[in-house]
Amino acid sequence: MAKIIISALLCLAMFGSLAQAAGGCREANGTAPVSGSCDAYIECKNGVAEEKLCPDGLLYNEKSTGYPCGYPIDVECTQAQSRLQSAQPTEDCPHQFGYYRMGDASHCGQFMNCASGRGYVFDCPEGLAWNAATYKCDWPDQVEDCDAEAFLGFSCPAPGQKSDLLGEQEADYTFHPSSDNCQVYFICIENRPRRISCGEDQAFNQETMQCDDIDNVPNCSNDIRAKGAEIKAARASAAAGRKAAGKLH
Ligand SMILES: *[C@@H]1O[C@H](CO)[C@@H](O)[C@H](O)[C@H]1NC(C)=O
Ligand SMILES: *[C@@H]1O[C@H](CO)[C@@H](O)[C@H](O)[C@H]1NC(C)=O
Repeated sequence: MAKIIISALLCLAMFGSLAQAAGGCREANGTAPVSGSCDAYIECKNGVAEEKLCPDGLLYNEKSTGYPCGYPIDVECTQAQSRLQSAQPTEDCPHQFGYYRMGDASHCGQFMNCASGRGYVFDCPEGLAWNAATYKCDWPDQVEDCDAEAFLGFSCPAPGQKSDLLGEQEADYTFHPSSDNCQVYFICIENRPRRISCGEDQAFNQETMQCDDIDNVPNCSNDIRAKGAEIKAARASAAAGRKAAGKLH
C-alpha cells in the first residue's frame, strides 16, 4: 500500500516538474505563451503549469497583468506561426467574442459586439462609421472599405479649376449645405465628405458657411425653428435658475 502511495506521489511530482518544464513557468503564479499559438497560453498556479485556451475570438496577451486574453486589436502575437483554435460561429457571430462591422461599404455605421456567441448591435453616432482598425466610430473617409459618399448620401462636387493667378491655392476643404436638413452640413476633404451637425439650436448659415443661431437662418422649416426656440428657452431658464441658486449662497 505504502509503495503504491509513494509511486503515485513520485508520479505526481514527475508530472508536475515535466509540465513546469514544458510550460516554462517563469513565475510561480502567472502566464506564459505557447509556442506557435496566438490564443493558447500556459497558466502557472503555485508553479504548476496548465495549458489553457482563450475564448474563441480573443488572443493571449502576454503583457496583460489581469485577465490574460484580449481583443485582437489590443494584442500583438509574436509567435512565428499564428495557429488559432477553430472558430465557433453562431447565428449572430463569426466568433464567440469580438467586435464586427455590419453592412456593406455604403452602410458602415453599425457594428456588433459578440459575447459568448450572442451579438449585440450598436449604431455609431449619425454620420460616423465603424472603424474595424481602431474599434471606434470614425469619420467615414478614414474607414477602409467605407464608401463615404454612398454612406452619407452626399457627393462632393468636383474640385474647381485651380487658379494659377498669384499662386493661389485651392482650398483643402470645402463646406456644403445639406439639401434636406438645415442643421447639417458637409465638409469635403480631399473630395470625401464628412457630415457635421450644428446642434439643436443652431443651423448652417450658407452666407457665412458656419453654424449659426437658428434665428439667423430663415431657410429652416418652421418646425425646426420652433424646436430650436424651445431649446433656447429651456437653456435660458435653466441658466437663470442656476444664477438665482448662486445668489442664495
Ligand atoms: C501563488 O498563488 C497562491 C494562491 O493563489 C499563493 O498562496 C502563493 O503565495 C502565490 N505565490 C507567489 C510566489 O506569489
Ligand atoms: C437659404 O437658401 C438659399 C438657397 O439655397 C441660399 O442661397 C441662402 O444663402 C440660404 N440662407 C442662409 C442664411 O443660409
